[in-house]
Amino acid sequence: MGTIIAPSVLSADFGNLQRDCEMINNSEAGWFHVDVMDGVFVPNISFGFPVMNVLKKHAKKTLDVHLMIVDPDRYIQRFAEHGANILTVHYEACTHLHRSIAEIKKHGMKAGVALNPHTPVSMLEDIIADCDLALVMSVNPGFGGQAFIQNTYRKVHALKDLILQKNANTLIEVDGGVSEHNASELARAGADVLVAGNAVFATSYPIDTIAALHKTANS
Ligand code: DX5
Ligand code: ZN
Repeated sequence: MGTIIAPSVLSADFGNLQRDCEMINNSEAGWFHVDVMDGVFVPNISFGFPVMNVLKKHAKKTLDVHLMIVDPDRYIQRFAEHGANILTVHYEACTHLHRSIAEIKKHGMKAGVALNPHTPVSMLEDIIADCDLALVMSVNPGFGGQAFIQNTYRKVHALKDLILQKNANTLIEVDGGVSEHNASELARAGADVLVAGNAVFATSYPIDTIAALHKTANS
């Protein structure tokens, strides 16, 4: 399997969401990355179920939902009902992470866990084998268009080592500040999925940018 590009819907044009969904459908992107923020876990509010409904209707690829919300257990069932294929919760937001992961799977979704930039990879030692996905935040979550944190390369290497050591099948996703400048190094470090918001949607021809990112990450 090559490296998957997951455009972040957060940077799409919400007045033309159907159009942007169709662009992603027709592109070399593998997944839709969907950032849900509650204004408590992160200092920003993005969107919730009304936008999920639009995505469920128009997106033809995997819906990779990244919950930046406190106490995400409250909403697992509703995200399943709204079409999420992968549901990622934050390590820092879950008191009983093992239970949250089990609940996500019980509702028929793949389960992911996300790490903020300050959280060491070693915190996942006892849960990694249960996770379908581990998301390394390469910016402080909350906003698109921020600068990539260089320490991410080291974390991706460490995570890859941990996954191999535990004989796990976990995919590694990197989220924040991803562009054509760092995509190939991230893929070499072990990233399986690269999220890109600003790098895709701030360009004149996002579909070409997705193709270029895909090519760089898989070269
Ligand atoms: C940040 C979100 C990211 C964001 C990435 O809190 O989790 O998914 O949309 O956007 P860029 O690629 O612009 O950094
Ligand atoms: Zn995200």
